[in-house]
Amino acid sequence: MGAFRIALSVRDLTRADLPSCGWAGSAKHVRQLAEQLRRAETGDVDYLAVCTPVGLPVAVGGVDYTVKEGAGTLWQLGVHPALQSCGIGTLLIRSAEQRISDRCLGRAELAVEEGNPRARSLYERLGYRAYGREPDSWDVEAEDGSIQRYETTCTLMRKDLA
Ligand SMILES: CC(C)(COP(=O)(O)OP(=O)(O)OC[C@H]1O[C@@H](n2cnc3c(N)ncnc32)[C@H](O)[C@@H]1OP(=O)(O)O)[C@@H](O)C(=O)NCCC(=O)NCCS
Repeated sequence: MGAFRIALSVRDLTRADLPSCGWAGSAKHVRQLAEQLRRAETGDVDYLAVCTPVGLPVAVGGVDYTVKEGAGTLWQLGVHPALQSCGIGTLLIRSAEQRISDRCLGRAELAVEEGNPRARSLYERLGYRAYGREPDSWDVEAEDGSIQRYETTCTLMRKDLA
């Protein structure tokens, strides 16, 4: 079978998209996206969606401008599981970097879990360099509704934007 191309566009995530973001994580995570959209209104973050021609998001990710002075921090990057390894993550990251440059900031930052070598090698290919490590933790909702604390260690990476 030959290759199949889909025209994708990148825009800001909106509230109307949230019912179509179930693939991006738990119900709690999708509820928290609503809070990130409020932060986007005040300019603290950009939250992007890569969309198919019918306007449905197949990748989302944020840029937080409040974490590191003079930089945009990429976080919560995710591509629909059925469409990973097709170049969509690369498109999302390049669009996020453009948003950072649009604010006249010269650096992109991100943190990747030490247990996620695939994502790390993608970031390295796109020019990110590791400069440290940091413990991180967050609440995870189990199927029975109970909340557990997930503890991990992340590699800190950054890239100077031209
Ligand atoms: C990490 C993630 C965001 C990357 O997005 P992606 O769309 O899969 O990434 P890309 O396709 O741009 O690049 C990654 C892979 O595709 C390949 N690729 C890139 N462009 C390609 C293209 N045009 N055609 C074919 N393959 C391509 C790369 O060689 C790379 O190979 P790999 O799968 O062996 O690592 C995505 O895989 C994801 O959501 N993962 C789960 C959540 C996660 O780990 N998030 C990151 C937290 S820091």
